[in-house]
Amino acid sequence: MNHPILVCGALGNVGTQVVKSLLQQGAPVRAAEPSPEAVRHHFGQGLEAVRFDFHRPETFAPALQGVKRMFLMRPPQISQVERLLFPAVDAARAAGVEQVIFLSLIGVERIRLAPHFRMEQYLRTCGMTWTFLRASFFMQNLNTVHVAEIRNRDEIFIPAGHGKTSFIDVRDIGAVAALTLTQTGHENRTYDLTGSDALDYYQAAEQFSQVLGRTITYRSPSLLSYVAAKIRNGTPLPYLLITAWLYDQTRRGMSAQVSGDVQRLLGRPPIRLRQYIEDYRSAWSQPPRLGPL
Ligand SMILES: NC(=O)c1ccc[n+]([C@@H]2O[C@H](COP(=O)([O-])OP(=O)(O)OC[C@H]3O[C@@H](n4cnc5c(N)ncnc54)[C@H](OP(=O)(O)O)[C@@H]3O)[C@@H](O)[C@H]2O)c1
Repeated sequence: MNHPILVCGALGNVGTQVVKSLLQQGAPVRAAEPSPEAVRHHFGQGLEAVRFDFHRPETFAPALQGVKRMFLMRPPQISQVERLLFPAVDAARAAGVEQVIFLSLIGVERIRLAPHFRMEQYLRTCGMTWTFLRASFFMQNLNTVHVAEIRNRDEIFIPAGHGKTSFIDVRDIGAVAALTLTQTGHENRTYDLTGSDALDYYQAAEQFSQVLGRTITYRSPSLLSYVAAKIRNGTPLPYLLITAWLYDQTRRGMSAQVSGDVQRLLGRPPIRLRQYIEDYRSAWSQPPRLGPL
């Protein structure tokens, strides 16, 4: 029987790519979201979409019916995983799910306070097999979280100094997730998903400048200037503290780890930052300035 593969966060950065990669393989996808209407609007009526909301446990069992494998991610706004995500894991086991592919965080074994660490611990003992995709910093943060500063001010405003990042493209995470959801041999394995090299933000800005044809400058603010600027523009405090901590880790060289797992699994090199910038260049294009009449 062709069991549907459940994809949580199907409209998120990564979930969208997991759905796309599964569809390319002809796999039976069930896209799970708080709003199935939004999924149909995005992917069309042909895709099976179900309501699945971590805040509404009554949505779990119907969404999980007949599912053997699922892609699970923690929405960034949820930190209380014990209260909101553990019950979804329990419901998955009760519904007969056999394998959970969980989107985790690179270096999570050192970050015991991270919700991903607690999720991994719980999944290891939940009675299902698991695969942990420990991703490094998404390239796509640069066309989402950081899009305005690059597009409007021609700058990257990140307090990471000369620290390097092994940027990963979420399209590669989607491809790896689809592979582990449709093949055997990935049970109880952990994969580190990174790009093939690590770059600092001066190098990243240089690549932006070359591709976009205008100078993008890396500002490298101090942590204090970063926090002050983000408070001024109304960034919510919990989010601000997490990003400040993350970029400080990068400054200390903790985001530079490069792994060969993407190449090994996909049989091709990970997407490079330059390719990503070329593919998403319209995100940073500036509207034409109106001259004097
Ligand atoms: N950004 C990075 O560089 C990075 C690196 C490594 C790991 N990670 C981890 O990756 C995860 C974020 O992935 P992402 O960027 O793909 O997330 P995202 O784009 O923010 O998407 C979140 C998804 O979760 C859905 N969602 C929100 N609330 C929900 C709820 N109550 N119940 C069910 N679904 C809900 C959202 O649906 P709506 O669209 O309806 O809100 C959306 O589809 C986080 O755990 C983060 O820590 C991030």
